[in-house]
Amino acid sequence: MRVRGALIRRVRHWVANRGWRGFLAEVLRRAGGLLAGRARAGDARAGAAGLGAEQVHPFDRRYGVETSGLIWGERLGTGERREIWATGYYGISPSVLWQAMDRMGLEWPRLTFVDIGCGKGRAVMLALRHPFRRVIGVELSRELVRVAVENVERLSAVWRTDAPCDVIAGDATTTELPSGPLLLYLYHPFAAPVMTEFLAHVKASLELEPREMYLLYVNPEMDDLLRRCEWMERMWEESFAMEEGDAAADRFGSRSERVVAYRAR
Ligand SMILES: C[S@@+](CC[C@H](N)C(=O)[O-])C[C@H]1O[C@@H](n2cnc3c(N)ncnc32)[C@H](O)[C@@H]1O
Repeated sequence: MRVRGALIRRVRHWVANRGWRGFLAEVLRRAGGLLAGRARAGDARAGAAGLGAEQVHPFDRRYGVETSGLIWGERLGTGERREIWATGYYGISPSVLWQAMDRMGLEWPRLTFVDIGCGKGRAVMLALRHPFRRVIGVELSRELVRVAVENVERLSAVWRTDAPCDVIAGDATTTELPSGPLLLYLYHPFAAPVMTEFLAHVKASLELEPREMYLLYVNPEMDDLLRRCEWMERMWEESFAMEEGDAAADRFGSRSERVVAYRAR
């Protein structure tokens, strides 16, 4: 009975996130994997290694943190209503974020960096390498928040960071945005219904306190929704090549990531 419940939950999640076509493609992909005997071996490995652990990313080996692995949305296990729209956890390629931040070229000390869906905190830690006024991560999964907090603590022992840093357990569509100029960062965290609510939340916050706001969106699958926001201006769009170490560790075999940037009008 419990197995059937889990299966129904997973199917609902796939359909919500990827549509019926995406769902059927996933079924076919997994069936192919099962025939080749790979899927079972992969699941067993992931299960034995713990929460989403798979191949260890060089960032983790270098700094003694734990940000690796892929956890599909249906496996996040938050019990939160909006989880059905969560794409899942996967850490950003550091070389992509560095390049996107360089291209933004902003005055960091004036801004608060907010990672919308910070997962295990890889981007939060990368942001701490910039002299932001403050760095914040918001994350739906309490378990991932726990991992992110541990990671930031471990990293602070290695890197001297002056910016105050907070990782908050919460839903990005309702968590209050900090006062003052903002750089919001998203790595394709959720599907259209939650993105729509999130954008309404940001707009409401800006109406309450008009202020400078920039938005960096990596793997911008929901970009159509942003393009429709007349209160934001599109700054640029670019595909950034990953450095060799990032590309070698990439679970999807990608060698680059598309990024778009916006600013509030
Ligand atoms: C692709 S991961 C990105 C992780 C991190 N930002 C990075 O760049 O390394 C997306 C994260 O968004 C989180 N998420 C999904 N829906 C959310 C929501 N409504 N509120 C807060 N976090 C959410 C997921 O749990 C997941 O950890």
